[in-house]
Amino acid sequence: MPPHRRGPRFGSDRSSIRLPLPGYERHVTDQHPTAEPFLPPRFNLETLERAAEICAGCDLHHLGTQTVFGEGPARARVMIVGEQPGDREDLEGHPFVGPAGKLLDRGLADAGLDRDQVYVTNAVKHFRWESRGKRRIHRKPSMAHITACRPWLDAELTVVKPEVLVCLGATAAQAILGRTFKVTQHRGEIFDAEGIPASVTATVHPSSILRASDDATRHREMEGFVRDLSGVARMLAA
Ligand code: URA
Ligand code: SF4
Repeated sequence: MPPHRRGPRFGSDRSSIRLPLPGYERHVTDQHPTAEPFLPPRFNLETLERAAEICAGCDLHHLGTQTVFGEGPARARVMIVGEQPGDREDLEGHPFVGPAGKLLDRGLADAGLDRDQVYVTNAVKHFRWESRGKRRIHRKPSMAHITACRPWLDAELTVVKPEVLVCLGATAAQAILGRTFKVTQHRGEIFDAEGIPASVTATVHPSSILRASDDATRHREMEGFVRDLSGVARMLAA
């Protein structure tokens, strides 16, 4: 195993990894890729993560180093959904551990929320990138990737049953709240989403704060991010 990989988080006994259900090849190659046939019929977070290790529900499994599954307590009251793992997450196998993750941690702490109490995941669980010289540059996942990966997110929601679901950025927000949802217009508001019993809210993606063109803008963006997350903390306290 390359040194940058921490390896599976649930022991190294890979003999117990399930094979996908019969007929999965059809789904991988057809027009509508989906992770569906890779889901175990009954599951908890541990068995889900193991099953997701061998997901080939869309073409991104060829591109990413490994599946980056969600992490956090099975009883978390808050679930945070990002877009997809970034370069660091892809190498380390854990969500939000790179620069955007550091900013997320700070935002949560400033809002009085503890990252360890929150379940953190992504709409798409493999890193989509293109090479630019020696660097791997982030590429947005397509609608097909988001749709293909959705069964994993739905399964995470089924297990964790969060009270509040926080979408970070447009990709997550549109996946959950519809393709026309505008984060800039509706950040911090509370919504119902079909089939999801949690209160749903959206805010900016921490990567967008990192991309701010100057310090003053970054500072203002960070304040807005913390304000939105503070609203979540207030909901939990109510
Ligand atoms: N950006 C995301 O959306 N998710 C991660 O896990 C890391 C960066
Ligand atoms: Fe499976 Fe999602 Fe990875 Fe596609 S991105 S291979 S659906 S885990």
